[in-house]
Amino acid sequence: MNITLRVWRQKGPDDKGRMVTYKVEDVSPDMSFLEMLDVLNEQLTLEGEEPVAFDHDCREGICGACGVVIDGEAHGPETTTTCQLHMRSFSDGDTITVEPWRAKAFPVIKDLVVDRSSFDRIIQAGGYISAPTGTAPDAHAMPVPKADADRAFDAATCIGCGACVAACPNASAMLFTAAKVTHLDMLPQGQPEREARVVQMVNQHDEEDFGGCTNIGECSAVCPKGIPLDTISQLNRDLLGSLTSGGPE
Ligand code: SF4
Ligand code: FES
Repeated sequence: MNITLRVWRQKGPDDKGRMVTYKVEDVSPDMSFLEMLDVLNEQLTLEGEEPVAFDHDCREGICGACGVVIDGEAHGPETTTTCQLHMRSFSDGDTITVEPWRAKAFPVIKDLVVDRSSFDRIIQAGGYISAPTGTAPDAHAMPVPKADADRAFDAATCIGCGACVAACPNASAMLFTAAKVTHLDMLPQGQPEREARVVQMVNQHDEEDFGGCTNIGECSAVCPKGIPLDTISQLNRDLLGSLTSGGPE
């Protein structure tokens, strides 16, 4: 496959940035999108040009480090992470536009790399437990009902990639925050901080300049882990409950 790429190049946080066009030839349909960017960078390096900076780590859909907007869609045309997207999802001769996540709370560091430390601060604000959990339980013990354990597990699969924010017209991180709240809400060890957690995490979300949720649903539609919108309903119920009970201690 021969591909034309339009890539966002930005030297640093204060640079204005611009789109630059590159040709990449002999791309295998079996390459991942990041491997195709590796080929581009090899080409740029051999030409004495600065390679394109992009974030990645596991390349297995686990870490959440990768993530770019491809042809206007967070993580591109498939519901997966950018590292798990393959070039067979495109056609020979395509022109593909690649940009970083666009959100005030995710400032661009360089090219396609954004600063997602605002997510870390939301987790630090309440995504923890203080109850001693002891040693590993017996394999046949069922301390948590199966349905609750499944919901906690599903919520915990959020990898913090930020696609939900990039896809949301309000640049809201409510799906991410709701996944973290729901994960701990469903477990007995999450209960002591339950009321405080939701208030602290939502306050931090707002302090980081993420927008408000208006139930558009783009977040869940692009989420590579399928975090459902009803986690946001759960967060809202918890928040209301905490605020009407006089707030966290
Ligand atoms: S909710 Fe989904 S899209 Fe948002 S950070 Fe978590 S995994 Fe990524
Ligand atoms: S590089 Fe880890 S999820 Fe893509």
